[in-house]
Amino acid sequence: MNSPTNSERPATPGRLRDLIFRGQDIYAGLAPDPTKVDMQGWGSDHGIFAYCIERLQPKLIIEVGSWKGRSAINMARAMQDFGMDGEILCIDTWLGSPEHWLADGAVEAWRSSLGIVHGYPTLYNTFLNNVVASQCQRIITPLPLPSESAFFVLQRLGVKAPIIYIDAGHEYESVSRDIALYWQLLAPDGVMILDDYITFPGVTRAATEFALREGIPLIGEPGKAVLTRNASLSITTKIIVDE
Ligand SMILES: C[S@@+](CC[C@H](N)C(=O)[O-])C[C@H]1O[C@@H](n2cnc3c(N)ncnc32)[C@H](O)[C@@H]1O
Repeated sequence: MNSPTNSERPATPGRLRDLIFRGQDIYAGLAPDPTKVDMQGWGSDHGIFAYCIERLQPKLIIEVGSWKGRSAINMARAMQDFGMDGEILCIDTWLGSPEHWLADGAVEAWRSSLGIVHGYPTLYNTFLNNVVASQCQRIITPLPLPSESAFFVLQRLGVKAPIIYIDAGHEYESVSRDIALYWQLLAPDGVMILDDYITFPGVTRAATEFALREGIPLIGEPGKAVLTRNASLSITTKIIVDE
């Protein structure tokens, strides 16, 4: 990243980013470095995102777990394609999850993606560069906090969102807590999308227990699941996740 771009426009009034960053332009002075664009992700282009965005026309999407930004950028592009002007709040520590720190062998790249320098990951730089290179900085707002802390910030700000994507820690305890906390921020007709249903047993157990406790349908396939009180959406998303 070297010279300023036209991304340095003032923040748009009424956006969450103005409340959180108090008018500071977080992208000021950033220009993309094409040699460092790295869009690796997992299931980040699934059709469920564009489907829910088109149906719900959200002004705000909350993503819990963003990594290099691929899923957020994919959702931002869907919003652009549908001519929508919304915001995607990306919550992440950008410090990685246990599976990234422990990765070796065929998936050692997950570990090296953390970009550990002096014992501390620099993954956030990859995320920022990808967002700017994709020209999605108008839509994407990062919030670099642990998911639990970010929840309390958003709760205090009275935030509700029609789409919440949960893709942070995949251990049972972590994902149970994220589902339960962020469910409180979901708009009444909204949808919570869960990543790594079936593929991570902790996610499957957490999602199943939550759905049973709340008495709501859980619709999923290996890789993605949705939780929603919106009856029409729960029927139609079945078509998408079954594709
Ligand atoms: C599987 S990756 C997200 C992938 C991304 N959604 C995509 O599709 O490209 C999980 C991310 O969650 C973050 N994470 C894990 N536990 C977290 C926590 N408690 N709070 C905030 N972020 C967390 C990690 O830093 C990591 O970047």
